Amino acid sequence: MFGARCLLRALRSCSSAPCPRHKPSAKLSVRDALGAQNASGERVKVQGWIRSVRSQKEVLFLHVNDGSSLESLQVVADSSFDSRELAFGSSVEVQGQLVKSLSKRQNVELKAEKIEVVGNCDAKAFPFKYKERHPLEYLRQYPHLRCRTNVLGSILRVRSEATAAIHSFFKDSGFVHIHTPVITSNDCEGAGELFQVKPSSKIKVPEENFFNVPVFLTVSGQLHLEVMSGAFTQVFTFGPTFRAENSQSRRHLAEFYMVEAEISFLESLQDLMQVMEGLFKTTTMTVLSNCPEDVELCHRFISPGQKIRTYAKKQLSNWGADLHTEHEKYLVKHCGDIPVFVINYPLALKPFYMRDNEDSPQHTVAAVDLLVPGVGELFGGSLREERYHFLEQRLARSGLTEAYQWYLDLRRFGSVPHGGFGMGFERYLQCILGIDNIKDVIPFPRFTHSCLL
Ligand code: 4AD
Ligand code: MG
Repeated sequence: MFGARCLLRALRSCSSAPCPRHKPSAKLSVRDALGAQNASGERVKVQGWIRSVRSQKEVLFLHVNDGSSLESLQVVADSSFDSRELAFGSSVEVQGQLVKSLSKRQNVELKAEKIEVVGNCDAKAFPFKYKERHPLEYLRQYPHLRCRTNVLGSILRVRSEATAAIHSFFKDSGFVHIHTPVITSNDCEGAGELFQVKPSSKIKVPEENFFNVPVFLTVSGQLHLEVMSGAFTQVFTFGPTFRAENSQSRRHLAEFYMVEAEISFLESLQDLMQVMEGLFKTTTMTVLSNCPEDVELCHRFISPGQKIRTYAKKQLSNWGADLHTEHEKYLVKHCGDIPVFVINYPLALKPFYMRDNEDSPQHTVAAVDLLVPGVGELFGGSLREERYHFLEQRLARSGLTEAYQWYLDLRRFGSVPHGGFGMGFERYLQCILGIDNIKDVIPFPRFTHSCLL
């Protein structure tokens, strides 16, 4: 067995760096090439896909994109390079000199010395046309190709930045990342929106159930995080979450990503709301400063005319009735189109784990939702019922006592006041990018009657 120090030494001493005698052209991403400060003829190699071709009498202009930035790199080549293979969508490897551009449109360009077409693209058959702005609904029909468009490129880069920013936020705030399971035997939300998991019929298992108990795809990692919050005071998870919601709405998916946090020794909703707000603000500021062009493109691409919305003008809701999308939209609008916290929901509407406020006659629980413009509910959270006897009664009323003995144990052995929340990651992206339909902010959307690829 390697000791940790031995392993580190071994890693340092082995290297696959090329022999320095043959100096190949340095491979650069388009982003790095565009960012080169003093381009003065360095030999470089760039690989990517052709986004445009413009052929003049003596010179050929290509724009090559590799997904590293919204902007493409201009390649300038002698017209002798011109060929039918250099078409919109083809993949190429270009070697040449990185030089300052004479045009004001870009700082640098690549003077081609060698252009190799790696893969041809039949531009006529390709479903996206050069210079055409295809609607998002149209792009959705091509989940295997749509990442090659500017708008999906931008959305997916923002998604990647936001993912990293969320991890950084929690790391910087001292949270421990927990991998909660995808397969579980509990129904955290109790709403029955579960996908059951079974082996395919070809697999023979002696028992009736592979796991001996019925199991499901997780609807939330909360209960597993609560287990962890008995040992770590701040934990989070960020992973795929599944709900069998029979909804084609523009804010529901059957598979989505949820960011969840759980904090021990937390006694007030105010403290929880501060973490929610901190997560939202810090992540958004990081995204805005790391990929402003991508955010800008989304805001420009989604025309304001598309976002015609109506709001419920009548009485919000009767006390004790749940808030519907229309009510959420109305509340946000009423408060000036800004994010709005709604707290203390009726106990009867909420799952067993939420902390009883003991405030008869209303009888509420310490729950909090954050509603945001254009999307509605973005976060759902609560203080958890940490008092053994309260929880025992709630479980008994729901007929869950037996199944949740382990959960009651958490209250028997060193229970602490605690709380947490979940944020729908796709709804977050919709909110900051102004994207109307949730299916456009996830690479491969899954929803009722659709699981392409
Ligand atoms: O409000 P929810 O159901 O809360 C929970 O699951 C808690 N157990 C979380 C926790 O406290 N750890 O879901 C949290 C968020 C919602 O506010 C919403 O943004 C998102 O998850 N969400 C969905 N997003 C896309 N498609 C769906 N079908 C969603 N259902 C919930
Ligand atoms: Mg909710």
